[in-house]
Parts: sequence; C-alpha cells; structure tokens
Amino acid sequence: MPVPTIVWEDGSCKIIDQTQLPGEYKVIALETIEQVWEAIKVLQVRGAPAIGIAAAFGVYIGVKDFESDEVEALLARVDQSVDYLASSRPTAVNLFWALKRIRDLAHASRSLAAGEIIQRILEQAVAMIEEDNRICKAIGDYGAELLNDGDAILTHCNAGGLATASYGTALAPVFRAKEQGKNISVFADETRPLLQGARLTAWECKQNQIPVTLICDGMSGTVMSQGKVQAVIVGTDRTAANGDVANKIGTFNLAVMANYHSIPFYVAAPLSSVDMSLASGAQIPIEQRSPEEITNGFGLRTAPEGIDVYNPAFDVTPHQIVTAIITETGVVRPPFEEGLQEAFERAGK
Ligand code: MRU
Repeated sequence: MPVPTIVWEDGSCKIIDQTQLPGEYKVIALETIEQVWEAIKVLQVRGAPAIGIAAAFGVYIGVKDFESDEVEALLARVDQSVDYLASSRPTAVNLFWALKRIRDLAHASRSLAAGEIIQRILEQAVAMIEEDNRICKAIGDYGAELLNDGDAILTHCNAGGLATASYGTALAPVFRAKEQGKNISVFADETRPLLQGARLTAWECKQNQIPVTLICDGMSGTVMSQGKVQAVIVGTDRTAANGDVANKIGTFNLAVMANYHSIPFYVAAPLSSVDMSLASGAQIPIEQRSPEEITNGFGLRTAPEGIDVYNPAFDVTPHQIVTAIITETGVVRPPFEEGLQEAFERAGK
C-alpha cells in the first residue's frame, strides 16, 4: 500500500516534499496559508487530487485563528482564502472543485457559530482524504480488469500515490492487479522538464515492488514498436465533457504513438478531474511555467543564455485517440459525453 502523501496530524497539514524525492524522503508541515500556496506552486505537493486536498486544508489554515463571532466576516475570510489558493495553479480542476466544496460548505453552515463552521471545514478536508482513497481504489478495481497477467503498461508523469492522498489513479490499476496476483510491469517516461516520472513514478514503483523501467520521453515509439507495451495509462488534470484530456506535457505525443501502434490509451480520471462545464479541451486553461525549468533544470544550465523558451506544463489529448476513461464508477468508452454523464449519475451527482 503506497504511503500517505498528505495527512492532518498534530494540528498541521503534513506532506511529503516531492521536490526532494528521490534523494530525500522529507515530510514537511504546512502551517500558514502562504506555505500551502507556495507548496502547490513549486510542486512540493502536486498531482491533481493531492493539490485539491492540500487546498482544502489551506482554507482551514487560513481561517483557523479567526477570533471574532461574526459569521459574515468569517465567510468573507473563507472566500478570500479560497480565491487566494485558487491563484496557485490553473489547470487541475480538482483545485477548484475542492475549494468550491469548502466554500459551499461554509456558506451552507452560516446558521452555526463561527467556531463550528471552522471545525466543519477541517472535518471536510480530512474526509476528502478517505474519499480520495475510496475513489482511487475503485479506479484501481475497474482498471485492473483491463490488464492481463504479464502486461507492461507505459505511464507519463506521476499519477501514482504521490499525486493523490495515497493510492494513485493511473498506477492504481497496477497496484490492484498486483494485489490480485497479476504480474504487471511499468515503463515510466522520465517526463521532461521536471522529471516526475523519473523522480516520483520510478521511486514509487520501487517502493511498492512493481517492476519498473525508466525511459526518456522520446523512447515511447521504440518500446511500443518492439511490442514491449500492452497499454498506456495516464492521469489527468482536467478532462472536458467531450473526453478531451489535459495532462502533463508529452501525454499527447504518447497518445498519438499508442494510436499508431494500436495500443489502448487509457486515462484514469476521478470524476473530480472531469469538468463537464467545458465542452472541449480547447477551453482548458493551460499553465505556463518558468523558462528556467527547461534551461536550468535542477540547477544545471543546459541551454544558451537568452534563449527563447516555451514551457506549457500540460497538453490536451483529443478524445478521438482516447480508448477509455477509467472513473470510480466504471470504465467510460466513446461517445464520452454521454458516458461521462452516466458516470456522474452512477455517483449520484
Ligand atoms: O505538474 P504536476 O506534476 O502536478 O502534473 C501532474 C500530472 O500531470 C498528473 O498526471 C495529473 O495531475 C493526474 S494525478 C492523479
């Protein structure tokens, strides 16, 4: 069972500092809302579901020392905290989903005393951890049915336990299949420029005794053409109503390669990562990150001074080349709009 990425312990939000892996396994406490914002921004906590949970704790941290009994003033502070945390990263819809949930809960509790509302916010954030574990395990169950003993899957970035409360989305089918006694191995794309595949997915698979082989992003075509990969499974930061999938930059290339080789391309997506308000992926806001991540990755200058750089952190894979979306209420196949709608209905939403 993968390790918990985010916990509430001794009155603070504790996370594994993912910028330090794999060199150092370091747990840090986030004690101010600014620290939570910064941790999300610099990817100490990252991966769509984990970002959402961290932000929920962030709102609590932002209001926990509110001293007056003025409920309206407390709700204004909640709104301010929500808006501030929402400015940390734009693409993962889980961030906005979690913040909306906390804001709605606080406003719906306005008949209570201020202290009780604050307590409810904390309870909701803690409950999100358990909920996330349940959802990821359900994705694991549905996804494991798609895998056969002996299969190798290729994944991109990190959509494992570290990207969620603890169990992962894209890696959950692999963990579950292993629990069922199937032999599944993983190819991990190193995932330029921040190497989440090399630093996090490879580390996490090793921790969980999953056979893993690290490859450079540009090698996917080679391993597929050599028959070494039976399925691609990736996570998503935001999937639009038509099934277009935003995920870590490089995912689109992988999907095209999988399509060319007739290899199934699966997206593991909790419904909290599905944004039915957006008709297509063209409307998904894509985070642009600093040029230094490419020119000075991990402190080593690897490009000439003054070079022009383009660094979108995510791309959008068109739904036409997505084989299926694995949700917590079942595997959705095209046409995705109807299938995703039904997946929400099965979840009672
Ligand atoms: O920039 P990151 O590391 O937060 O990007 C993460 C991803 O792209 C993941 O694949 C996605 O958030 C799904 S996590 C279950």
